[in-house]
Amino acid sequence: MIIGIPKEIKNGETRVSLTPASVEALVEREHVVYVQENAGINVGFDDELYEHAGAKIVNSIEEIYAKSEIVVKVKEPQPVEFSMFKTGQTILTYFHLAVEPELTEELLKKKITAIAYETIQCPDGRLPLLHPMSEIAGKMSIQIAAKLLENSEAGYGTLIGGVPGVAPAEVLIIGAGTVGLNAAKIAAGMGASVTVLDINPEKLSIIDNIFAGRVKTAVSNRYNITKFLRQADVLVSAVLIPGAKAPKIITKDLERTMKKGSVIIDVSIDQGGITDSIKVPTSIEKPYFTENGVIHYAVPNIPGLVGRSATISLNNYSLPYIMKLAGKGFIAAVKSTPEMYKGVNTYQGKLVNSDVAEALNMAYTELSVLIGF
Ligand SMILES: NC(=O)c1ccc[n+]([C@@H]2O[C@H](COP(=O)([O-])OP(=O)(O)OC[C@H]3O[C@@H](n4cnc5c(N)ncnc54)[C@H](O)[C@@H]3O)[C@@H](O)[C@H]2O)c1
Repeated sequence: MIIGIPKEIKNGETRVSLTPASVEALVEREHVVYVQENAGINVGFDDELYEHAGAKIVNSIEEIYAKSEIVVKVKEPQPVEFSMFKTGQTILTYFHLAVEPELTEELLKKKITAIAYETIQCPDGRLPLLHPMSEIAGKMSIQIAAKLLENSEAGYGTLIGGVPGVAPAEVLIIGAGTVGLNAAKIAAGMGASVTVLDINPEKLSIIDNIFAGRVKTAVSNRYNITKFLRQADVLVSAVLIPGAKAPKIITKDLERTMKKGSVIIDVSIDQGGITDSIKVPTSIEKPYFTENGVIHYAVPNIPGLVGRSATISLNNYSLPYIMKLAGKGFIAAVKSTPEMYKGVNTYQGKLVNSDVAEALNMAYTELSVLIGF
């Protein structure tokens, strides 16, 4: 197979989809890998390392799309890339199509096989490719919140872990999955007072077992959200309904009850976010704004802030799927890998993910009908 690795162009994005080690593994199996010049430069993987691993370096992103059967990316294609799509091409990346109607239309028009990392899902419900980036985003959410609480940023100068005689910050985390658990680890480790809410009591039980009472848990309902939000210095949104838009849990009315100088880190923004007040994502370049005294942070590619760790971690999970796809071809790969089957969002001009179809109010076709399965 011919595989292409473009340089990411989303605002502030530093990650690259394949490391030199992954390229070497693919080249060993006789695949051809094209890497755009300087694709890995921000994370310390220069062109020489890729060449040494067997990649061919090309000058432009246009060449990557023109030459490749499979394009492997990190973030969703940006509008400037739409005209580069080649009919019938396969693209693997985080797509988040539930909030990307224009991109979805383009993928359908060009009959792109779009495999969305975030909807690759194991039969037991795990999301193996969302998991590594969620671990990072969860950990980073608290580092970022701690910084935003400082006077040097927009905060009133609250030390997240407190000091003797001064209470620590109250951290409220909504969602007890991977982001929530990792945010709780760092927040508790820094000495904050932490509460985690989820609609699923089994998820709360996991948190309770891990932290042995050090972190408070409660069921996520309007009553509890109202109660804990009032006290919160930091709110981390960590909810997910796979493939669907995030529920708008924090209405404007609720938000008005928050303390001035408090911080919202809306990690779920890549699925639309949970607050009414954040209409569009912020960016790594301009990461937050203050409204009614509350600091709003909604960067959709937080792992891009720690690109090297994030790139290596992503590859640890993504390479086996890329190998399978390149080795067996699309149909055999999805037929033999149930989690990859779930990852397919568009195929031959049809939308084949039901959650995305529902979110965008578009027609849905079951993939099995199209591939004879
Ligand atoms: N901004 C970023 O850079 C970035 C990076 C990684 C992940 N994310 C996003 O973070 C979000 C969380 O990801 P995750 O891997 O932790 O998901 P996850 O599936 O592991 O956990 C989500 C949790 O949300 C809970 N939930 C669902 N609806 C809820 C509700 N109404 N109230 C409370 N809890 C609810 C679920 O029960 C589940 O425990 C996703 O939208 C993901 O795409 C963002």
